[in-house]
Amino acid sequence: MAVLETIVVAFWAMLPAYVPNNAAVLAGGGRPIDGGRTWNGTRLLGDGKTWRGTAAGILAGLALAAVLTLLAPEVSAAIDIEVPEFTVPAAVALAAGAMLGDILASFLKRRTGRQRGAMFPGVDQLDFVVVSLPLTALLATDWFRTWFTWDVILVVVVLTPVLHVTTNVIAYKLGLKNEPW
Ligand code: CTP
Ligand code: MG
Repeated sequence: MAVLETIVVAFWAMLPAYVPNNAAVLAGGGRPIDGGRTWNGTRLLGDGKTWRGTAAGILAGLALAAVLTLLAPEVSAAIDIEVPEFTVPAAVALAAGAMLGDILASFLKRRTGRQRGAMFPGVDQLDFVVVSLPLTALLATDWFRTWFTWDVILVVVVLTPVLHVTTNVIAYKLGLKNEPW
């Protein structure tokens, strides 16, 4: 695959995993998932992981996957690069996997003594990739093999932290997020 083609496919295929985190920031609030429960005196997840944010994130990822699937044939023809249409299992795995990765990261942050909102370099940027990709490989194996070739995976691992840092700085400057990470 040509470099540009690889980048376009990686970005398109990952969009349903990228958007849930941002949607969760916009929609978050209300009851925390852990219900306030603690483990060894520290919150299980913390107030930053809510039911509403998680549900909104997954729904946003699914909605985006549906829109991208409708657009894929026309976009592929227009830019002469074949971009993926999403199957239902692929969309679910990408969107839910992204939210699950973010939740697991919070769990790890609390266990390592990091307060809500604390920075965890590396984990903050790649948590959703680490869960959404294996989950997609598991739930949508053929789709995953078709689109997530090794070069696409490499681009995802490099591109995701860059996009994550950029969008979070923007969200912070717009006053949507409390911290720029
Ligand atoms: N959010 C949410 N539910 C989620 C993820 C995020 O409601 N599953 C919302 C919360 O309002 C959260 C904000 O989005 O404060 C920012 O998300 P994030 O940076 O992931 O959470 P933090 O507040 O930094 O908490 P943590 O340290 O646990 O990651
Ligand atoms: Mg945070």
